[in-house]
Amino acid sequence: MKRYEQLADEIALMIRTGVLKAGEKVPSVRTASRTFVVSPSTVFQAYYLLEDRGLIQARPRSGYFVRELATRALSEPAIGPRQADSTEVDVSELVFSVLGSLKDPNTVPFGSAFPSPDLYPLQRLARSMARTVRDMPPQAVIADMTAGNPDLRRQIALRYMISGVHLAMDELVITNGALEALNLCLQSVTQPGDLVAIESPAFYATLQVLERLKLKAVEIPVHPREGVDLNTLADRLQRLPIKACWFMSSLQNPLGASLPAAAKEALYGLLRQHQVPLIEDDVYSELHYGPQPQQPVKRLDRDGLVMHCGSFSKSLAPGYRVGWVAAGQFAQTISRLKLMTTISPSVPAQAAIADYLQHGGYDRHLRKLRHNLEMQQSAMLASAARHFPEATRVTRPDGGYFLWFEFPRQVDSLQLFQLALAQGISIAPGPIFSATRGFAHCARLNHGHPWDKRSEDAMAMLGRIVDSF
Ligand SMILES: Cc1ncc(COP(=O)(O)O)c(C=O)c1O
Repeated sequence: MKRYEQLADEIALMIRTGVLKAGEKVPSVRTASRTFVVSPSTVFQAYYLLEDRGLIQARPRSGYFVRELATRALSEPAIGPRQADSTEVDVSELVFSVLGSLKDPNTVPFGSAFPSPDLYPLQRLARSMARTVRDMPPQAVIADMTAGNPDLRRQIALRYMISGVHLAMDELVITNGALEALNLCLQSVTQPGDLVAIESPAFYATLQVLERLKLKAVEIPVHPREGVDLNTLADRLQRLPIKACWFMSSLQNPLGASLPAAAKEALYGLLRQHQVPLIEDDVYSELHYGPQPQQPVKRLDRDGLVMHCGSFSKSLAPGYRVGWVAAGQFAQTISRLKLMTTISPSVPAQAAIADYLQHGGYDRHLRKLRHNLEMQQSAMLASAARHFPEATRVTRPDGGYFLWFEFPRQVDSLQLFQLALAQGISIAPGPIFSATRGFAHCARLNHGHPWDKRSEDAMAMLGRIVDSF
């Protein structure tokens, strides 16, 4: 990141946290240059960038001021409605039609599931890949397939240990991304027709997996800040023969909610009481903005009841397709299912990631990635406050790269999706996150790309379309 971009981020944070208030003058170029020990031209560049982001504006002969709307905040959404006991899932066509439209590189990618690839150390990973493949003993190409690369397994186990989760190494199954892990977990504990508790709204691939395996969804509402509603869950576990729960206990997709520590304990207690396994989808845990990561429910697992699924797709190596599951008592079944289907993720990709984790400065990269995502979140929130109607509600996750918007009731987000696409902007409409096509006036927007004038203009255009309903 260039120095002027860093400076712009520092000032943006001061605006976001209220140190600099709406209408207040930002430091003059000369003062800022002295205070931040940078040249006046760096300050000018930073101020131009903040102007582009809509956070400050120049007043003739008076200097730069924080814009009135830069600190206005939209309200947060409330918890969604209770759902029917169970639902057959049929969303794939809708999801595919939405995902298909995201492929055009000229589209503003607010609907995308991925952050910008520019935020990842792909060159450095490529060097790790070249070195490890060159030096790989020929036997390892085959031997590492079934159990996974031993260095990678050690590095993953080490990260668990540092975060306070103690794992037996043979619990760990390396997979083709978290999605394979999640699929295998579900297959290992269910039969067609079984009931599975999922979140509402849920990550759309969850719904597609249930549909493919002919499982029925028991949708549990998610509070936008505090995660899945445990009262509803307790009621459903009591009344229905639920075979598994598939939840994201931290930085849930799409809401960004995280269960507080006490709620994680209560959730584990419920699962234990009913002996229902938890498939814990935790692919965003490394993207926390606060100083410490959220602890997974897996940390409390004394009975091997939790299958904790992780991935490098969001934190380090998109496209390498390396994920894993710490599968507790289900590890052997899952290993065998994997051998019967894909055998193994690519051995060179595993080796490259293992080498990077050992030598590449993963934690430094993560700090930078989190900082960028947090800054981009501020920019999108400020932009939404400027361009979206005041009745719009939006989440404020403490990590990740998604915001969930609840527009006024009359907004049909599938129609909004079509109208926005015609203007070169993608969004992820609410109904793709629901087994019952709910959340018709909601949408998930991705802020994982560097914020620029194009993003700002796209938000303004979305605001105009929303207003037209
Ligand atoms: C909540 C959630 N789980 C799992 C996945 C899949 O992860 P991977 O790319 O490692 O398969 C994603 C990716 O979008 C996701 O958002």
